[in-house]
Amino acid sequence: MAEWVRVADLSEIPPSKAKRVEARGLAIALFNLDGQFYALEDTCPRDEGSLSQGDLFGDLVQCPVEACKYELATGTCITFDAHVQTFETKTDGSSVFIKL
Ligand code: FES
Repeated sequence: MAEWVRVADLSEIPPSKAKRVEARGLAIALFNLDGQFYALEDTCPRDEGSLSQGDLFGDLVQCPVEACKYELATGTCITFDAHVQTFETKTDGSSVFIKL
């Protein structure tokens, strides 16, 4: 059964920034897009780029290795045939949680 897992303080991830977090053995890229948090599997399946190290272009993150652009909301790559898992997020005023 899925549970909410606390993964970061809100203050650790300013707007337009990302942080790599680990929870239950998973590496997750956590993004703050104007106060809305998105969580994606951190490792790009094409050649293991770390998405939390990528640049944001609106609601897309570009993998730093081969420039695949992933939608933050869906985990779908719009430039290659690739996909990463996404996770629900919530905040409580001071912390960020991911549903795992
Ligand atoms: S490792 Fe991400 S696009 Fe190649």
